[in-house]
Amino acid sequence: MDNVVAIDGPGGAGKSTIARRLAEELGYLHLDTGAMYRAVTYAALQKGLDFNDNEALVKLANSIEIDFNQAGEIFLNGKNVSQEIRSPEVNQNVSKTAAVKGVREILVEKQQELAAQHKVVMDGRDITTVVLTEAEHKFYLTASIEERARRRFEEMKAKNKEANYKEIKENIARRDELDSQREHSPLKIADDAVVIDSTDLSIEEVVSKIKAIIAGE
Ligand code: C5P
Repeated sequence: MDNVVAIDGPGGAGKSTIARRLAEELGYLHLDTGAMYRAVTYAALQKGLDFNDNEALVKLANSIEIDFNQAGEIFLNGKNVSQEIRSPEVNQNVSKTAAVKGVREILVEKQQELAAQHKVVMDGRDITTVVLTEAEHKFYLTASIEERARRRFEEMKAKNKEANYKEIKENIARRDELDSQREHSPLKIADDAVVIDSTDLSIEEVVSKIKAIIAGE
């Protein structure tokens, strides 16, 4: 599968930032699949759904419209929800939504359709292992949990949001565990993915490294 770059990894490893930069430089569309699970979660919170009610979550995922614009912003039923999907409430519940098989099936189908229509850099948890198994370029991006929590903390502070390092680290650790232990499409390293540990690397360094690998250097 040409013109497709697939990137997986745990939360806070820099996937979205790296994928966005890479897409800009390659002239590809960036698809942040985490944003799609977040959009379903946000919609569920708005409706006051019970996150243990799998059937209601699947019904909801089936009834909503999720779109991206060229800038990578996400729209839920036509409304830009790029900010709303980053709330603490969504952070708390998104891994529960993402563990529901029926919800995953709906979103994976959409992701596969988008990859068939565009040149894409797609990032998430199961892109290399489930969604785009035939992708020519596969990467697994990771970093130590301390560094991942530190980056999220700095990111929130830069946006003048209240941030507590310990809470952020706990939330990331809990999501890591839920995402890698779940029954359906758990986070794992694909056999044919290149693993990049970004703990001591800058964004530019990671982007250059990935570009060099893609270019076959
Ligand atoms: O990447 P981000 O942290 O925004 O993803 C939010 C959550 O969405 C993850 O913790 C995971 O539970 C879920 N997710 C997933 N599969 C993907 C992308 C995200 O299960 N491909």
